[in-house]
Amino acid sequence: MLISHIQDKGIYHLKGQSASYVLKVMPQGHLAHLHWGKALKDEDLDYLTSHFDREYRDDSSQKDYTSKRDELPFEYPTYGQSDFRPPALELRNADGSSIVDLRFKNSRILPGKPGLEGLPAIYTESDDEAETLEIILKDSLTSIEVTLIYTVFRNSNAISRSSKITNHGKEPVQLEAALSLGMDIQQSGFEIISLSGSWGRERRLDRHRLQAGSFQVDSTRGESSHQQSPFLALTEPGCSETTGSVYGFSLVYSGNFLARAEVDSFSTTRVLMGINPFDFSWHLEPGEAFQTPEAVMVYSCNGLGEMSLQYHRLYRSRLAKGLWRDKERPVLVNNWEATYFDFDAAKILEIARAGRQAGAELFVLDDGWFGHRDSDNSSLGDWFVYREKLPEGLKALAEGVNKEGLQFGLWFEPEMISPDSELYREHPDWCIHVKGRERTEIRNQLVLDITRQEVREHVLEKLIAIMEDAPISYIKWDMNRPLTEMGSAALPPERQRELAHRYCLSMYKMMDILTSRFPEVLFESCSGGGARFDAGVMHYMPQAWTSDNMDPYERLRIQWSTSLVFPASMMGAHVCSSPNHSTDRRTALATRAAVAMSGAFGYEVDLSSFSPEEMKEVALQVAFFKEIRSLVQFGDFYRLRSPYETSDGSWMYVSPDKKEAFVMYCKVTNLPNPPVSTLKLSGLNPNLRYRIREGFSQGLTSEKGKDLVLGGELLQNAGLTVPRLHGQLLTVVWRLIAEA
Ligand code: DGJ
Repeated sequence: MLISHIQDKGIYHLKGQSASYVLKVMPQGHLAHLHWGKALKDEDLDYLTSHFDREYRDDSSQKDYTSKRDELPFEYPTYGQSDFRPPALELRNADGSSIVDLRFKNSRILPGKPGLEGLPAIYTESDDEAETLEIILKDSLTSIEVTLIYTVFRNSNAISRSSKITNHGKEPVQLEAALSLGMDIQQSGFEIISLSGSWGRERRLDRHRLQAGSFQVDSTRGESSHQQSPFLALTEPGCSETTGSVYGFSLVYSGNFLARAEVDSFSTTRVLMGINPFDFSWHLEPGEAFQTPEAVMVYSCNGLGEMSLQYHRLYRSRLAKGLWRDKERPVLVNNWEATYFDFDAAKILEIARAGRQAGAELFVLDDGWFGHRDSDNSSLGDWFVYREKLPEGLKALAEGVNKEGLQFGLWFEPEMISPDSELYREHPDWCIHVKGRERTEIRNQLVLDITRQEVREHVLEKLIAIMEDAPISYIKWDMNRPLTEMGSAALPPERQRELAHRYCLSMYKMMDILTSRFPEVLFESCSGGGARFDAGVMHYMPQAWTSDNMDPYERLRIQWSTSLVFPASMMGAHVCSSPNHSTDRRTALATRAAVAMSGAFGYEVDLSSFSPEEMKEVALQVAFFKEIRSLVQFGDFYRLRSPYETSDGSWMYVSPDKKEAFVMYCKVTNLPNPPVSTLKLSGLNPNLRYRIREGFSQGLTSEKGKDLVLGGELLQNAGLTVPRLHGQLLTVVWRLIAEA
């Protein structure tokens, strides 16, 4: 049993693999949060109410908190009585007031996990993988009900949470904030980790001490954004990769979000996460319900590494879906940074041919193949082939690439419209806009109002026709600007603030239709680099473009912090040219490859211009990657040395049976006269001995490579010595295979 209901105490106990999450219905019906952390037994849980009773009494579980609600650790707090902290639910009642007083109504425990209609969510493949608790809270005056939905997964310390708000009253209400989760943790002094950045510097790790007051990250851009990610972790101060308590919160959502932590005057930390209440409201007629997105919470008492492992396992196997979920991803060649808009069919075939010679498996034709697109100032929406560039058409090109021995992939940007396009000239009102206001163009484009059925259907029809005509094995779904002038011609004034969420729901609907219609196609999400690298899109597309910045040293950091939540199989990572187009930095091909190999691997360079020596090196890299691909994409991942704290970065992957491993080490700056560096490995079997092949990522056939045989115990407890690195070649990789 993963969930127990101790009825006489009104206690719910959610039991993870080694963690407990405990709630209690207080005598007056409020739902209190008693514990989330290391595992507890069912007995004595009622005693935990004394942890928040400042005048501790023998039976504090019976105390009436009605007049002192800001002393009560709430689960899903509301506004209007004596809890003055920010709420998880805020609404405007028919009488204009904002008061909601939620008290327990009933509950049920279900096997497995029900889906969330229209929203991405973790799923189960059989009912015995999980148990779900639904607790219904009710405001007796208005008959607004909130269903809190929790799922606990077997062999995991992850819990998913969402909320459903139903109007059982006779009058309409306006939701002003409807968050996925709220909880009061009876503790403060946490450090908080968030992932923030910008284009080209996505998901940088930010870490600082949480003080009294609040800290929040959010998006108001209509996408999860380059700037902040829908993720927070609270950690014990000083918590490392392997030690200390961590509470992770990740939202399965791609639109405007909020993640907030607030420390109050009694040292309680309130955590809130969900759709950003800013510029949001939702009109609920009697009988209607609103389902929030899902948040996935992970507890680890063994540091950040274990939190990440839990996220990786769950997201890889029960968030991502479809045929490609468990399939190794093809080594691809993408022409974007090789040609930008300047290509023709002959050039594309030349690059594809070179890719094939090196062992690549898929060629991806990026932006510029449609309308009359020679730069980013036209043609989005005109999804027909640019005949001057590709006179024989897309089908002929795709078949040509197939003949070279590679599969063919295609880029498109379905949510956008260029003012210079046939589509815009025909339907100038199809974009998101507010009548009479200037339409802000970003990257010379506007956003289609995909909440309108006719717009959605038009775009899907065009894409489906292309995909049915040409042999397409892969799609890169790009989205290159945030949403502005939020207004929909199809919504009445009182529903305009629903647009951002409706947009996100419509995008999910389109992704669902397309991916279900073409189950064999591998889809990769992209958003001007990594502006939509979130758990929402990963439900439909098993990988996403991590960042337009492919400089390996920059990528060390970006991939390191992205890996807090997402596994390598979800991170698109390509070898760029040198000097890099974003940073101008020159790096060794081996370094670029070693870092890109730590994800869904590919090349984004003009391979047809490479020298024979370089091509030989690329071929060795590809061959080597194919040997470690399943380890990287489906093994357990361990971060070893942080590029945020040192001048180098290192991580490793271990197969589930611990018989194979791959270690990547990369030095950003070479010190003169450096000390010896050792890496303490993780995740190995201490009782096995491993044959270690050292290479420099040209493949392990490098002359410098040598074999060692060492025990897992020594490698983990004492460490592996990093060889002295010289010149531009500041990368080393090791492949470990257990001796029989
Ligand atoms: C932004 C993406 O991140 C790039 O990889 C590329 O596809 C361009 N868009 C094309 O416009």
